[in-house]
Amino acid sequence: VRGLASYDTVVIGGGPGGYVAAIKASQLGQKTACIEKRGALGGTCLNVGCIPSKAMLNNSHIYHQTLHDIKARGIDVDGVSLNLPNMLKAKDTSVTGLTKGVEGLFKKYKVDYIKGTGSFVSANKLKVDLLEGGEEQIEAKNVIIATGSDAMAFPGVPFDEERIVSSTGALSLQEVPKKLTVIGGGVIGLELGSVWSRLGAEVTVVEFMSGIGGVGIDEEIAKSFQKILTKQGFKFKLNTKVTSLKREGDVVTIEVEGAKDGKKETLTSDVVLVAIGRRPYTDGLNLEAIGVEKDKKGRIVIDNQFNTSAPGVKCIGDVTFGPMLAHKAEDEGIAAAEFIQTGHGHVNYDAIPSVIYTHPEVAWVGKTEQELKAANVEYKIGKYPFLANSRAKTNNDQEGSVKILVEKETDKILGAHIIGPNAGEMIAEATLAVEYSASAEDVARTCHAHPTLSEAFKEAAMASYDKPVNF
Ligand code: FAD
Ligand code: NAI
Repeated sequence: VRGLASYDTVVIGGGPGGYVAAIKASQLGQKTACIEKRGALGGTCLNVGCIPSKAMLNNSHIYHQTLHDIKARGIDVDGVSLNLPNMLKAKDTSVTGLTKGVEGLFKKYKVDYIKGTGSFVSANKLKVDLLEGGEEQIEAKNVIIATGSDAMAFPGVPFDEERIVSSTGALSLQEVPKKLTVIGGGVIGLELGSVWSRLGAEVTVVEFMSGIGGVGIDEEIAKSFQKILTKQGFKFKLNTKVTSLKREGDVVTIEVEGAKDGKKETLTSDVVLVAIGRRPYTDGLNLEAIGVEKDKKGRIVIDNQFNTSAPGVKCIGDVTFGPMLAHKAEDEGIAAAEFIQTGHGHVNYDAIPSVIYTHPEVAWVGKTEQELKAANVEYKIGKYPFLANSRAKTNNDQEGSVKILVEKETDKILGAHIIGPNAGEMIAEATLAVEYSASAEDVARTCHAHPTLSEAFKEAAMASYDKPVNF
């Protein structure tokens, strides 16, 4: 055991929640350390989540476009072929570039990076089992738990990460499967399904619910999204539950059953991606030592200032309530550090954007139509298709539309739902509008550069109270 170091703030977990909290705490003058056990900073997001998936999505899109689309753009190429090992290498390079970047930020902002597994001895004393061997005890006035989440396996069937894979295995398949079955038509299933579909796999998505896109998607958008993906070659089995999953040699057998009609069917596949959600990760923290409360889903319970039930212990990110998104975890990280220092911090849970990085992208913020109906809010809809947007047409990338939901009485923008090229970038404008309580007319009277995709957002706003001009 090394000597007892003492800190103002110690963050457990170096993901987007934890590393951002640590940097902000140190910037605010707190003596700060961050404990991370995976041997690299950046958490799920940088190592096995957001970043490698976007690298594969981007590069598989370029490959697919090169094969199927660029001839019509006046570019002739011969002998296009996939070099999967190099595509995987490019992904790894983007990951290490960013994780090393976070290490550099820790040095710059004087955050002590402790490599090991942290666990509670008491609310202000932690033990770290060091990666290099041995252990260290540290004291902290404040602890922020940011231990994130982990993929849920199909009940009774652990991941072998070869044939029955989580997102982590699906980001490193060494060959393109002939048949890929995805269990769960949420964000991970559709993004990683897209990657392997573009690289040549026959992709079937089995989804328990009646629509795709996961929690929080607008139902109308989900239907158009499904049509677009079906055109791209996806097969969907909705309202269908998987009853068993078994690997024998190189074949995985999946028994499914209609959720409504009970109809049974057997599917076979080379690889099965299980993407049925993630669970909060608290293994090994020894929370019992400090009596921290968890809810039924295993999430650490916090108040509106990120305090757990243990004194001086806060919690942020995937391991607590709210959407499991990197930008949500980051904003909570900043707010938690600010609460420690100043007693104030801000996260607006009504204005957190969601993006599915397929092609076209799907992005939304604020309320869905089904939510407004359920809450009996009177609303108007403004819609605008990308086929009437000059930039989308010029780029020959005009699938999708913008849909804006506006409060009837006040003209306030309550929600925005976009399917289309660069929807993930465009949603920033909608998020700002929701954050600032903008009216649709505020947006429609804001000058938007021409020719840009964002003009579709302006025209949708215009369409909600008047007529669009270009459609
Ligand atoms: P995590 O990133 O999970 O980090 C927690 C860290 O804590 C881990 O590194 C873990 O090793 C460490 N840890 C755990 N216990 C201990 C301990 N006892 N001691 C020390 N260290 C510990 N979100 C988006 O917003 N956009 C995306 O495009 C996106 N894509 C994704 C793609 C995939 C395939 C996956 C799986 C997720 C994706 N996400 C995306 C979700 C995003 O990764 C998470 O929301 C985000 O990483 C949560 O951040 P966090 O800091 O709460 O936890
Ligand atoms: P998800 O919650 O998005 O989707 C899971 C889907 O699986 C749901 O549609 C659910 O109905 C279905 N399902 C659950 N059990 C099932 C069963 N037994 N059989 C068939 N279907 C079943 O979860 P997912 O895709 O695993 O992603 C986990 C988290 O990671 C998400 O909460 C998301 O926030 C985050 N993430 C975010 C990304 C982004 O922001 N672009 C990308 C990838 C992940």
